Amino acid sequence: MRGLLAGGEKPALVIVGCGKVGTAMANLLSRSGYLISGVVTSRLETARKSAEATGAGRYSDCPWELTPEADVVFITTPDDRIAAVCGEIAENNGFQGESVVLHCSGALSSRILGPARDRGAFAASLHPLQSFASADQAVRLVPGSFCAIEGDAEALPIVRQIVKDIGGLLLEITPEKKTLYHAAAVAASNYLVTLIGLAVELNRAAGLSSDAGYEALVPLVRGTLRNIGSRGVPDALTGPIARGDVATVAAHLEAMEKDVPEYLSLYRCLGLYTVDMAREKGSISQERAQRLVELLKSS
Ligand SMILES: NC(=O)c1ccc[n+]([C@@H]2O[C@H](COP(=O)([O-])OP(=O)(O)OC[C@H]3O[C@@H](n4cnc5c(N)ncnc54)[C@H](OP(=O)(O)O)[C@@H]3O)[C@@H](O)[C@H]2O)c1
Repeated sequence: MRGLLAGGEKPALVIVGCGKVGTAMANLLSRSGYLISGVVTSRLETARKSAEATGAGRYSDCPWELTPEADVVFITTPDDRIAAVCGEIAENNGFQGESVVLHCSGALSSRILGPARDRGAFAASLHPLQSFASADQAVRLVPGSFCAIEGDAEALPIVRQIVKDIGGLLLEITPEKKTLYHAAAVAASNYLVTLIGLAVELNRAAGLSSDAGYEALVPLVRGTLRNIGSRGVPDALTGPIARGDVATVAAHLEAMEKDVPEYLSLYRCLGLYTVDMAREKGSISQERAQRLVELLKSS
């Protein structure tokens, strides 16, 4: 990295892909004193607007027109474009030797940036562990969110510094295990949405409107999150399975069979994992756990 960090000098950045994350990164880094030397996106007009909004020196719809000037290239296109964009930039001699090339995908590791490595650049990934609906929201949410990083040893000092400068919290992972890390994020975020959707549907079957059914659940979900925060998993677990209340779980299954059989398999599956959690918590006997497992597995 041409001794940039050692000299206290901030690197010059080019952002390729000016959507939610690319625009937010440009804004956050520019506020922290980084030079956004260029922004690139597939449409020239969007690139121009993005340059105006982020104070970038130049803009283009062709990455390798600008990337040779960059100490750090962020490829913030959708995941399915990252490898191709990296390959095209490499083919067109768009990477400076010893520059850092990174992407922000959670599912992919820095290994897909092989063509940049072949040109003498160092590869890394920096994934903000957060869900963004817009660039403005991302600017607000990145500070205080964890950012998972992995990549070449030569790239990591500057990537760590970038995370610090955008107000992120560091999480270091390995490329081999990045997919599992991403599965964890999907379970905690996306599956939570699915879970709330299930609960709202059950409330609808109980006669509540979608709005009322959702509103009623919000304080419960917040309280549960607080309990998880203060007591941890599995100690935060409460309810019929944690108490070994077989009759209540049987009543749930019977009522669902009658009114909403389409949700039974999900309820049963989550119930079985919850029995394991109650065992781990030590709140139910082996005998109760076994009866619950048999009930939840029965069809
Ligand atoms: N959104 C999130 O919640 C979130 C959270 C963490 C990480 N990420 C990661 O951040 C990355 C970007 O996601 P995003 O949500 O910011 O996506 P996005 O809003 O869809 O933005 C992607 C941008 O890339 C541009 N683009 C597409 N192909 C291109 C190409 N060949 N050359 C140059 N620009 C190109 C698109 O331009 P056009 O619109 O003109 O096609 C668009 O401006 C992904 O790796 C994603 O996994 C996203």
